[in-house]
Amino acid sequence: MANNRVDNAVIYPGSFDPITYGHINIIERALKIFRKVIVAVSHNQSGKKPFFSIEERVSIIKEIFRKEKRVVVEPFKGLLVDYIKSKSVDTVLRGLRTVADFEFELQMSLANKKMSGNVETVFMMTEGRYSFLSSSIIKEILSLGGRAEELVPDVVVRRFNERLKERKTDIVSWE
Ligand code: PNS
Repeated sequence: MANNRVDNAVIYPGSFDPITYGHINIIERALKIFRKVIVAVSHNQSGKKPFFSIEERVSIIKEIFRKEKRVVVEPFKGLLVDYIKSKSVDTVLRGLRTVADFEFELQMSLANKKMSGNVETVFMMTEGRYSFLSSSIIKEILSLGGRAEELVPDVVVRRFNERLKERKTDIVSWE
């Protein structure tokens, strides 16, 4: 085989606002297949304002994988295909939870392929126990005082509560 991609690095892009055990499970399983996983954290969230800043999303993921040298975490701005070219990696990894994810993922992988013919997207099925999990659900649970210990690492809960407290203090101080 001229270019054995599986022996290579893969880019795992996303918003990760915040990262969940569903994402972490995909990264851990990818490490069994790929030599290196580059977690690429997107600046732009299609008009949505993220809860965590880009710096904080990157730093949370770095903290979680601090002992795993094969996981690299980086922010990226603009088009994913441009970022991929800058890294000289041409394989993208995305997780698929349910059939509801399929349409958007197909659209995105075809759009990326159209823009850069060399890019291949590989999909990994999310483990059943995480198939309901999303960053939005985590934000909803945590902001309403629910427990999320089994869904996200402690660092996410801690940082979320810190930000929430800061924001409430900000609102009070402006009233
Ligand atoms: O975690 P998400 O929100 O599902 O991740 C989506 C993401 C960040 C991977 C996607 O929106 C993306 O690649 N954004 C960068 C801009 C881009 O390249 N858009 C064209 C692909 S459709």
